[in-house]
Amino acid sequence: MTLRRRLVVAVAALLVIIALAFVAVFFSQRSYLLAQLDERLTGLALNTKALVAVSARAEAGTGAAAGLLTDVYVGIHRDNGRLRNVLAPDADPALVPALVGDERDAGPVTRATIAGSALRVRLVEAPLGGERYAVVAVPMTGVEAQSRRLATALGLAWLGVAGVALLAGYWVDRLGLRPIADLTAAAERVTANGGRTPVLVDSGSPGTEAGRLGSAFNAMVATTASGQEQLRRFVADASHELRTPLTTLRGYSALYAQGGLATEAQVADAMGRINAEASRMGRIVDDLLDLTALGDRSALTLARVDLAAVLTDLAADLRAREPDRTVTVETSGDTVVLADSDRVRQALTALVANAVKYSGAGTAIGLASEQRGPVVRVQVTDAGRGIPAVELPRVFDRFYRAGDGGPRGTGLGLAIVAAIVSAHDGRYGVDSVPGQGSVFWVELGVPR
Ligand SMILES: Nc1ncnc2c1ncn2[C@@H]1O[C@H](COP(=O)(O)OP(=O)(O)OP(=O)(O)O)[C@@H](O)[C@H]1O
Ligand SMILES: [Mg+2]
Repeated sequence: MTLRRRLVVAVAALLVIIALAFVAVFFSQRSYLLAQLDERLTGLALNTKALVAVSARAEAGTGAAAGLLTDVYVGIHRDNGRLRNVLAPDADPALVPALVGDERDAGPVTRATIAGSALRVRLVEAPLGGERYAVVAVPMTGVEAQSRRLATALGLAWLGVAGVALLAGYWVDRLGLRPIADLTAAAERVTANGGRTPVLVDSGSPGTEAGRLGSAFNAMVATTASGQEQLRRFVADASHELRTPLTTLRGYSALYAQGGLATEAQVADAMGRINAEASRMGRIVDDLLDLTALGDRSALTLARVDLAAVLTDLAADLRAREPDRTVTVETSGDTVVLADSDRVRQALTALVANAVKYSGAGTAIGLASEQRGPVVRVQVTDAGRGIPAVELPRVFDRFYRAGDGGPRGTGLGLAIVAAIVSAHDGRYGVDSVPGQGSVFWVELGVPR
């Protein structure tokens, strides 16, 4: 059953219960009024002879009790069925109760009237002796008027409760249920379009659960859509990058098939190029696999790693490969961090490789590590070509290559650095002056 249907059923059940309660109140009040009337009637009928005598005097306008009997009918009912009126109520002098014959000693009963303005009376018929019975009756006008007033009041009260319940139901529906229905429809639309286009809902008031749910839904849809877009761009970029070496490979194989590689030297050259392109493709695939593997911290094997020692190793390798370079290593403080040793080495190697690749042969390269409170900062400084300010924010993007001309890589090195540092909850960045050089830095947390 939907929430909305449950709400309708609950409101309807509530209204029925309240109506039943009001009906019960009505009948109990009415029977209370009748009981009062009956009490008076039985009191009057206790001594019928005296009552008839007093009534006769009251009718004649004499007697002290006349004032007490202003609304009472008293008559004498004979065995032969004749009814003689003794006293009539002041307000209804023509009143005569309609007797059906079963009233004798039956206690208080309700009967219609055959004359007078009251429609019904409550009466008792008690023996007078000598086959005569005294009929004592009181008009029901008062009880009926009070019952009518009570019924009207209860009816109006019920209508009021129903109105409030309907308003409350509408309010709950508007604020709580309709947004949920909208949300469901929006979720179905998102599923239908495969999460590519964000379908946002009107989240409404942020103070309500539905409002918060709507905002959360919108945020989730936006994240999914942007994730899908990133993935799409990534796949497009990756295919594009792989297509270039692939085209080269195809070109050489076509050339060979057409007999275009006549001499052995040409074949050797072509093979060399094919090999280089194949290696390039291999590197791209490895890098892409690295990027997907570096999802979060759980992908890391954390241990204590001394960054100064890593830098010293890198410097030694670099000096061996490039003896012309001045490579300096500076260290200050305790430079041990909690990190995945292989990944950190991989990241710093990529930074050093860039420093080498994008600076002139023989220029100096500086490596530094320094403890700064809860983190250790590592810097790789070069005196190379630098990066224009407009390109700086994008150098860590996948497949982004800054500047034109000069050496070119796959554009994944810094993206992997960023992914490794982010997986460590660390920070990274770059400062650069075009024509003067760059400083790439990474900060990783010390063990706690
Ligand atoms: N030290 C640096 N000096 C100047 N430019 C740099 C430096 N490091 C990176 N860059 C610029 O940033 C771009 C992105 O670097 P990244 O390491 O991600 O890719 P790549 O070096 O081109 O390729 P890969 O490292 O995957 O072989 C480079 O193409 C280069 O233009
Ligand atoms: Mg690089």
